[in-house]
Amino acid sequence: MTPLVLIGFMCAGKSTVGRLCAQRLGLPFVDTDDEIERLHAPIDELFTARGEVEFRRIEREVVDAVLQREGVVALGGGAFAQPGAAEAILARGRVVWLRVAPEHVLARAGDRVRPLLGTAPTREGVEELMRARDPLYARAHLSVGAGGDPAAVAKRVCAWYAGVRS
Ligand code: S3P
Repeated sequence: MTPLVLIGFMCAGKSTVGRLCAQRLGLPFVDTDDEIERLHAPIDELFTARGEVEFRRIEREVVDAVLQREGVVALGGGAFAQPGAAEAILARGRVVWLRVAPEHVLARAGDRVRPLLGTAPTREGVEELMRARDPLYARAHLSVGAGGDPAAVAKRVCAWYAGVRS
C-alpha cells in the first residue's frame, strides 16, 4: 500500500496528526526526524557538528528508506523542499500538506529545538521561510488547513487517503 506522507512547515502538527492517522488506519507511524535521531544524533547536534548540507544528505537517505515501507510518514519541514525531493516523494507516496499560518508556528514553537527557527523565532523569520516553502509544499496531492484540532485534521486526511491508497 502506498504510504501516506505528511509535509508542511515546522510546528504544523505533522507528527501529532501522523500518529492519529496511523492509529485510525492501523498502520505503523514513522517521524523522519525521530528516525534520524535514532540512527545518528540529535538534529541540533547534527546541524552544529556536521552542517545543514550533511544533515540534508542524511535526511534524504532516511526519507528514501522509510518511503519503501507501508505506513504513515511525517517528514521534517525541509525534506520536501530540497532539490529533487518533491518529485521522488510525490512518486512514492500520497502526499498531504498540513497548512498553518505563522501565528500557529509561533504559538507552537518551543516544544523542541529547531535549528532553522532558533531559540526565539521571530514572525519575520517564520514568514520569510514560509514564503519560500509554501509554493513547494503546494505541489502536494492534498492541502489541508491544520491550525485547528489535530483529531479533526486526522479524520479529514484519513477520509481522503481511504479513497486514494492502493
Ligand atoms: C526543519 C524542520 C525540522 C527538522 C530540522 C529542519 C526544516 O522538522 O527536520 O530542524 O528545515 O524545516 P519539523 O518540521 O518536524 O520541526
